[in-house]
Amino acid sequence: MTQGLTQDGAKRMAARHALEFVEDGMSLGLGTGTTSAIFIQELGERVKGGLKVRGIATSAASQKLAESLSIPITNFEETPELDLAIDGADEVGPGLALIKGGGGALLREKIVESAARKFIVIADSSKLVQKLGKFPLPVEVIQMAKPTVERRLAALGLNPKLRHHADGSKYITDENNFILDCFCGEIDDPAKTAADIRAIVGVVEHGLFLNMASFALIASDQGVAKVAR
Ligand code: A5P
Repeated sequence: MTQGLTQDGAKRMAARHALEFVEDGMSLGLGTGTTSAIFIQELGERVKGGLKVRGIATSAASQKLAESLSIPITNFEETPELDLAIDGADEVGPGLALIKGGGGALLREKIVESAARKFIVIADSSKLVQKLGKFPLPVEVIQMAKPTVERRLAALGLNPKLRHHADGSKYITDENNFILDCFCGEIDDPAKTAADIRAIVGVVEHGLFLNMASFALIASDQGVAKVAR
């Protein structure tokens, strides 16, 4: 990606920087993906050192990782509002419009991040784009509705393809739904695309996260830039 700094190194820099915004006593939204996994590991080190936080994870995988590091887990019954959510993104566009869900956790991510007073995106600079849409836009759908939703997404010109695992089996989300990845190319009007997708019955959630991020920490070999909305 950049001279001297690997993509993993940049992810680690962004994740470490995000720890500076974590304060004792906070309730946290814990993201999903490789960058978030680094953040959770670093947070685990701080918890071992005495930091008192509790978290709600955006996926079963992140919850398992947090529990393995003795990070206390809470839920929305106990903790209806979170102080801070920290998560990666697949693309970060103008106005901090995001595509998320490459790791399949878009539904819980959107729930957790919309319940947080502040949401920080952590990413390496390869995620910054001028226009969203090169990364396929994930749409989570009820399994029985997949054929009808697929036809409607295709009619919108969004070119949906059912997500599979590498072994050829169908990808099932933590919430037991399918994902249709939309290979739509550049998205001219993310708000309109989001509204069009949301209007389809059988869609559970889509991976456009608009007007949600408070700021982004973007790491490159120039350091970590705090990008405002
Ligand atoms: C998970 O569903 C996604 O939204 C991730 O946040 C996104 O895919 C970023 O993942 P990486 O940090 O692995 O790039």
